[in-house]
Amino acid sequence: MSTHIGAAPGQVAPHVLMPGDPLRARWIAETFLEDPVCYSEVRGMYGYTGTWRGHRVSVQGSGMGLPSISIYLTELFVDYDVQSVVRVGSCGALSEELVLRDLVIASGACTDSSVNRIRFEGLDYAPVADFDLLRRAYDAAAELPVTTKVGLVLSSDSFYHPRPELSRRMAEYGVLAIEMEASALYTLAAQHGRQALAVCTVSDHILAGEETTPEERQQTFGDMVGVALEAMFGRGPRGHR
Ligand code: HPA
Repeated sequence: MSTHIGAAPGQVAPHVLMPGDPLRARWIAETFLEDPVCYSEVRGMYGYTGTWRGHRVSVQGSGMGLPSISIYLTELFVDYDVQSVVRVGSCGALSEELVLRDLVIASGACTDSSVNRIRFEGLDYAPVADFDLLRRAYDAAAELPVTTKVGLVLSSDSFYHPRPELSRRMAEYGVLAIEMEASALYTLAAQHGRQALAVCTVSDHILAGEETTPEERQQTFGDMVGVALEAMFGRGPRGHR
């Protein structure tokens, strides 16, 4: 096992779905995967491996924020040789063109975190998604009854932001939504030469001050998991959604 993941070598699949919430990881495994096996319960951050349409896939909780997801990603890449990760999360919309339950596919991630400023000694690195994953996710999302937007997100260190006016500044420059992990995901995937994508449903609207109900979140979350699986493995036969 690695420091924070209780899996034996080989127990984690090369392709991993990553929700922030470990209970969502369990729900995805039990709802979407055949023969799911729990490989880690360390800190309650569940990880499961099963198969989807014959493809071996794992689901690993990331926790909230750049530091937490960075720990799990580093161990997945270094200790378990994971090749691709698709984050399935939620975000707060900044764009007037988004409504609750819409899908945001992050083509790139801005951040207010200092992690990359330290990593790149003051240079501004632009963390971006893997294009093949992004293209397949967009094609799969086109069949959903919600709008999908592709563009920038802001990966913030703060859920309760001390400077909300800065989020509005980002919105003026086309940033679609706020979440808390994509920048670390794209940076670490680049560092290790792996593929990564973040797909998020709009759970709340920062400008309009609205939020989804738990039932809506569950439905949209399930749709997004289907999109993420098709992004990783391509389209299956019709009628198998
Ligand atoms: N901020 C950060 N992350 C989020 C938000 C938010 O408003 N909503 C959902 N995830």
